[in-house]
Amino acid sequence: MTAYLETERLTLRRFTPGDVELLVELDSDPEVMRFLTGQPTTRDEVEREILPGFLKVYAAHEQLGTFAAYEKAGGAFAGWFGMQPTADPAAVGVGYRLLRPVWGKGYATEGTKALIARAFTELGMERVEADTMAVNHRSRAVMRRSGLRFVKIWHEHFDDPLPGTEFGEVLYAVDRTTWEAGSHE
Ligand SMILES: CC(C)(COP(=O)(O)OP(=O)(O)OC[C@H]1O[C@@H](n2cnc3c(N)ncnc32)[C@H](O)[C@@H]1OP(=O)(O)O)[C@@H](O)C(=O)NCCC(=O)NCCS
Repeated sequence: MTAYLETERLTLRRFTPGDVELLVELDSDPEVMRFLTGQPTTRDEVEREILPGFLKVYAAHEQLGTFAAYEKAGGAFAGWFGMQPTADPAAVGVGYRLLRPVWGKGYATEGTKALIARAFTELGMERVEADTMAVNHRSRAVMRRSGLRFVKIWHEHFDDPLPGTEFGEVLYAVDRTTWEAGSHE
């Protein structure tokens, strides 16, 4: 399969229907899921919802979706990066989820910077954004290092809130002009 994106240390490609195991492995770590659902994703959910959801986005948006990331050195699966459509056709949302053993290597920032560059160059986007729980400090640090800037904090109601929900959700974003002026360097 042709790569969606290559960075210095990572290759990103589309997921395929045969990738259930990769997603089960990634989402089976409670620490990875801590600020997402708070619990491992079941195989059944991966098969019925998560993976079909990824494939559906590819069908509707040639250049967007969730992409499996592999380490160039050794070829191991590292996790995924997402660049998703938003309600605004000129804006995309970026995200990332990595296996715990590869945290602390700069992969999330490397992949996110590359996605942002692609959004503004090849995809002609005007804005890139990302959101997370306010208490997800690792994710917020990736956003900052990737050139996204804090926009707002807000509170959402959840029937079964995760610990930390009381501190709210945060939105980070960068627009084309700011990115072109060098915030990505
Ligand atoms: C969010 C997540 C992707 C962040 O991963 P991460 O590895 O901390 O982020 P980065 O790739 O930017 O790596 C930065 C770290 O690597 C270090 N690093 C080592 N080598 C590096 C290099 N060559 N270049 C850059 N940074 C490097 C940095 O110093 C930094 O270390 P620190 O955390 O001790 O300060 C990861 O924690 C994760 O998958 N979490 C679970 C899913 C999740 O919450 N996703 C976000 C939901 S919105």
